[in-house]
Amino acid sequence: MRLFKRNQKDHWERVYQKYASTEVGWYQAYPERSLKLINNTGVGIDSRIIDIGGGTSKLSEHLLHKGYKELAVLDISKNSIEKARSQIGEQSSKINWIEADVTTYRFRKQYDVWHDRAVFHFLTKGEDRKRYVNSFNQAVKLNGNLIIATFSLDAPSKCSGLPVVRYSPGTLQDELGDNLNLVETLVEDHMTPSRVKQNFIFCRFVKFQ
Ligand SMILES: C[S@@+](CC[C@H](N)C(=O)[O-])C[C@H]1O[C@@H](n2cnc3c(N)ncnc32)[C@H](O)[C@@H]1O
Repeated sequence: MRLFKRNQKDHWERVYQKYASTEVGWYQAYPERSLKLINNTGVGIDSRIIDIGGGTSKLSEHLLHKGYKELAVLDISKNSIEKARSQIGEQSSKINWIEADVTTYRFRKQYDVWHDRAVFHFLTKGEDRKRYVNSFNQAVKLNGNLIIATFSLDAPSKCSGLPVVRYSPGTLQDELGDNLNLVETLVEDHMTPSRVKQNFIFCRFVKFQ
């Protein structure tokens, strides 16, 4: 692993060691927009859904309760995966947990839905964004959906103490490629536990080629 990547992994391992899942800036009691957009894809409960950089988000737990059977969560941090698993308890064995860097992982399965809240925006180097694009092109089925949430142009310039790239729906689409149709966009003013406002855009794309 390159030094930069190792430092990144260390950053996330430290965060999940130091803070409870309800203390991190991106904590959400209920991932309302993510669930709404997944619902809007119209995929059935047998469809494959992967949460990229899922951390300790409650999304996979809510999806389990809704009856989705083919769930995966990928995260660079082992600590986050251990915490997320123990949060869910026994039912966590129904989820495929993958400890990996999304930009270098070789996906063995193809998914109907790729969900990413607050991961892509940490990729500040063009070469990493290109690797991310290669990853989802490998991993998302034709006519599959990508739901990507990033800081908007009105959001702070850092998240978790790291610099981020902020997007509008248009600049996000430009970065992800012209084989995607932007189907819908939602916005959210996320309030961190320490009461800092972070404006997010949630974009749903369909991969048409
Ligand atoms: C800001 S948190 C968001 C967590 C979760 N998506 C949520 O909405 O609660 C970013 C997450 O992405 C993970 N992450 C950061 N870079 C990553 C990478 N290159 N590959 C996979 N996961 C990554 C971190 O470990 C962390 O869990």
